[in-house]
Amino acid sequence: MNVPKWPVSTEREMELLQEVLESDKWGGYHPFVPRLEQSFAAFQQSAYALAAVNGTVTLEMALEALGIGPGDEVIVPAISFVATASAVSRVGATPVFVDIEGDTFNIDPECVERAVSNDTKAIVVVHFGGPMADMDRLSKIGADHGLPLIEDAAHAAGSEWNGRRAGSIGIAGSFSFQNSKVMTAGEGGILTTSDPVFLERARSILDQGRKPDGGWFFHYELGTNYRMTALQAAVLLAQLERLPAQNALRERNAQTIRKGVPNIRFQCVPRKASVHTNYLLLGRVPNRDAFQRAVAAEGVPCTPFYPHTLYRNPLYLRGGCLVTPCPVAEACVQDSFWLPHRALLGSEDDAHEIACVLRNAVQ
Ligand SMILES: Cc1ncc(COP(=O)(O)O)c(C=O)c1O
Repeated sequence: MNVPKWPVSTEREMELLQEVLESDKWGGYHPFVPRLEQSFAAFQQSAYALAAVNGTVTLEMALEALGIGPGDEVIVPAISFVATASAVSRVGATPVFVDIEGDTFNIDPECVERAVSNDTKAIVVVHFGGPMADMDRLSKIGADHGLPLIEDAAHAAGSEWNGRRAGSIGIAGSFSFQNSKVMTAGEGGILTTSDPVFLERARSILDQGRKPDGGWFFHYELGTNYRMTALQAAVLLAQLERLPAQNALRERNAQTIRKGVPNIRFQCVPRKASVHTNYLLLGRVPNRDAFQRAVAAEGVPCTPFYPHTLYRNPLYLRGGCLVTPCPVAEACVQDSFWLPHRALLGSEDDAHEIACVLRNAVQ
């Protein structure tokens, strides 16, 4: 079975890295960092972007820039990587876990609406696996209750909702460039926004409380150092050049696999979300564990979903969160799986072969 490795690099990464190495600025003040910020913001249809060390601190920065802290509640989905919730806890606020939709795997707007309280200060929406969550309904809930939406777009570089790119609908979009992501520098993150006031606050947090043109040794806020290095930015500029073609290739191969395996309930992709990364090819099957073992035995990488909902992590079993009923998320833990996006980066023949393996593994 020919499953490409990930990450991949070309001469282009080498060329840009070389340029940084020959300069006297390897850190966050090399021109490649603002170049990445501008290119990525334009790509995601946002006015600004802020490059950072990873996609966990970008979430923390977003929450902090909104003034969220102790006593505040933030609504998050019960299914995601832990950073979606732990960022809320790290700023001292309380994550409120709500259920997901069983077909899209994204946060259920009805459950969000029910979870809003007087203490709610924001909603974190994850575009899980690539397809964007229902931003029409979620934006309306946000607007009705005066709550900002933070898009956790770690999986969604290039994803669209009705022609609008991830991170351009909420107050901010948080992206991750960690090793497995569709654009990667091993680690890295970026925050997109079109709000200049929000941007200024977030940038000050990221850069030791400085102000633009405010002086190197002048610190106006309690900030820290979350700056992305030029070495990361060099790799990411090269990765961004290849991303559109890779997203298109993944989509073609995902379609081949979906069509070739009619007996799997693949992630439902709403028409408005049909442009997306395919970061994860998600599905639900009976006898998931046997299915996953059979697929992996044929050399196709397959993960049996998360082992539990976020609130069942030891971290949250100790408290510090609020949990609303999440029967759908609990069911997904039992019967869902995903293929990583590298499985979609081979040839059309490879996609047919993967479809054949999945078909044979379903019982
Ligand atoms: C949904 C989601 N949010 C946030 C993160 C955190 O990103 P990072 O690993 O870059 O800190 C990740 C992944 O790693 C993720 O999958």
